Amino acid sequence: MIWNVILDRHSRLNSAELEARLKAANIGEGRFPTNEITAFVNLMQVYEGAMYEISTKLEVLDEEFQVRFAHNPVHHIERRLKSITSILGKLERKGLPQTVASIKDNLFDVAGVRVICNYRDDVYSVSNYLSAQSDIQVLRVKDYIRTPKQNGYRSLHVIYAVPVFLSSGAHYTPVEVQFRTIAMDYWASLEHALRYKTDLPDAKIAEHSQTLLDCARSLQNIEVQMQNIHRDINGAPRVEEPPRT
Ligand code: GTP
Ligand code: MG
Repeated sequence: MIWNVILDRHSRLNSAELEARLKAANIGEGRFPTNEITAFVNLMQVYEGAMYEISTKLEVLDEEFQVRFAHNPVHHIERRLKSITSILGKLERKGLPQTVASIKDNLFDVAGVRVICNYRDDVYSVSNYLSAQSDIQVLRVKDYIRTPKQNGYRSLHVIYAVPVFLSSGAHYTPVEVQFRTIAMDYWASLEHALRYKTDLPDAKIAEHSQTLLDCARSLQNIEVQMQNIHRDINGAPRVEEPPRT
């Protein structure tokens, strides 16, 4: 019998060490006092925990599908914690205070998980089975698959509140989960790259944006056709409604 090692520990600054370092560097007297910085670091650890909880639940669902239906609904999973620069930038854009309390109250996408599924049926089934789990809550659902954005963007966005169990008890923490198919992800990556490409002439950007909109429609048609073939050869569940709040 072989026991596999599964604790892959990350190196982390502990609060006392962080405070000592900030004091030594004489940081923390101005806009971000030392206790605010330590509270921020503590909060980010909780968001990270919430992200892991969601990822594990998704892996378990994916494995269940593999065993029961010989089909993996999840192609791959990505996750990210919002950087401190993006967090402060977003609070500023919204005219909100740049404090730890304000992050907790106002930002729901500090922890982000992206679930890239193989087919559209998978997007709806995985999101519904996750949403039905009794320990998590669905805070918000935006179905840009049924109603794509004007530029052609499609994905299902769900914000969950996930309990993270710390020494002080359960902390319900928001995680933004974006469910999309491979085709939707392929499209969104290029659109995102175009959006941040500032050195192209406006006319060129407009032309590419129009082409991207056409591509979004074509991809949607291809997806439906391939989905139909897959339905005929695989018995995985068909769910066609987004989860409810
Ligand atoms: P913000 O988080 O402030 O943007 O507002 P929101 O929470 O109402 O946003 P929404 O749920 O519409 O989108 C959140 C995330 O989805 C973004 O941060 C992107 O990752 C992704 N997203 C939304 N719209 C687009 C789009 O048009 N193109 C691409 N590539 N990604 C998008
Ligand atoms: Mg967002």
